[in-house]
Amino acid sequence: MNILLLGSGGREHTLAWKMAQSPLLSQLYICPGNAGTQNVGRNVDFDYNNHEQLKAFVLAKNIDMVVVGPEMPLVNGIHDTIAADNELKHIAVIGPKKKGAQLEGSKDFAKRFMNKYHIPTAHHKTFDRFSVNDGIEFLKDIKSPYVLKADGLASGKGVIILDDLNEAIDTFQDILVGEKFGAAGNQVVIEEFLSGVELSVFVLTDGKSYVLLPEAKDYKRIGEGDTGPNTGGMGSVSPVPFADEKFLSLVKERIIEPTILGLQDEKIDYQGFIFFGLINVKGHPYVIEYNVRMGDPETESVMPRLKTDLVELFVATAKKNLQGFPVEIAPETAVTVMLVSKGYPDAYEKGKLISGLDQASDSKIFHAGTKATARGVETDGGRVIAISSQAKTREEALKQSFEVAEKVSFDGKYYRRDIGFDI
Ligand code: AMP
Ligand code: GLY
Repeated sequence: MNILLLGSGGREHTLAWKMAQSPLLSQLYICPGNAGTQNVGRNVDFDYNNHEQLKAFVLAKNIDMVVVGPEMPLVNGIHDTIAADNELKHIAVIGPKKKGAQLEGSKDFAKRFMNKYHIPTAHHKTFDRFSVNDGIEFLKDIKSPYVLKADGLASGKGVIILDDLNEAIDTFQDILVGEKFGAAGNQVVIEEFLSGVELSVFVLTDGKSYVLLPEAKDYKRIGEGDTGPNTGGMGSVSPVPFADEKFLSLVKERIIEPTILGLQDEKIDYQGFIFFGLINVKGHPYVIEYNVRMGDPETESVMPRLKTDLVELFVATAKKNLQGFPVEIAPETAVTVMLVSKGYPDAYEKGKLISGLDQASDSKIFHAGTKATARGVETDGGRVIAISSQAKTREEALKQSFEVAEKVSFDGKYYRRDIGFDI
């Protein structure tokens, strides 16, 4: 079959690498892809948000399946558009329709969904510009630290945690009245702060059944020891030692299964990944957020552990045939170390030549933000290269990734040397 994968990051290179191993695959196209994806498929450049361009490509290349990497096209309804087009509606799409994508696209929707289906999450209230005063009173009533969340998609920057009440009140007004996040901040969720260790749990669902994929932990802060501003993710580890059988069975029983049943109850027909951003509060899992896609850089540690054919899994997902589907997971630990550009997550330069990409040894090099030019492979993003290694122990896997991290180089390279430090 012919598959079109949308996206351009480390997650997409990893998904492309994994799908490319499938005997079911004839041709894989990645739009727009990066310098890494072109080694496992064919990069194509058109505007996938433009329905006519997408349609022309899909028909010309006899695409059988579209796999959507990032959340934005899902929240904007790319699956709905394909399903509503008579000439395209036979094409399988991995990723939910607009309504299901609201689990990530609207924090308020996600909170109401969790409350309705008794899924454990932090206590919250939602406010808009007509209830600013109520929001200020609510902040005064709850304890510090204060968690403020812009309702809509805000490129991972929409969550602000503050210790000081006055600062929280100012920021709250800044989002609602000052439009700090534009339309994404038309509503603000204020919620109770939960204290614990975070982890990411992933499932692939056909809307009725689901398969559990390996869990992972990601390292979001730029600085070692989890300091400094949030990034897209500086590294990941899978499995997560505290996610033992007992904890994961609580996750299934209290979170995953009620979510799938809730989707059915809401008549949300969902085919794709669900990423549960969880926090372990004294042995009890709570949902911090839902995402309707895989995580990045979690994918880079999760997919190398998946032994099952991903294309077969996607076909079963699209055919609503996931019930009882056998999934084989490698017991080894996988770790990912992300090389980023100097300045990231603030302003950074692009176009730095990358060397040492042939020095991977037993590790895998997944491109996150790269571009092939006449000079060679150049940096093209804040997160540039993900180095994933697998070994019997976490220490051994980390050693391998750090060795490769030294050999791959570009001007301004930075990475965290403490991935996995806390587990
Ligand atoms: P989100 O974009 O919802 O994942 O939030 C970004 C980060 O903020 C999370 O990964 C957590 O570290 C933190 N966070 C969000 N909500 C809470 C909460 N209720 N309690 C503690 N930390 C939170
Ligand atoms: N690594 C977190 C995310 O993909 O949202």
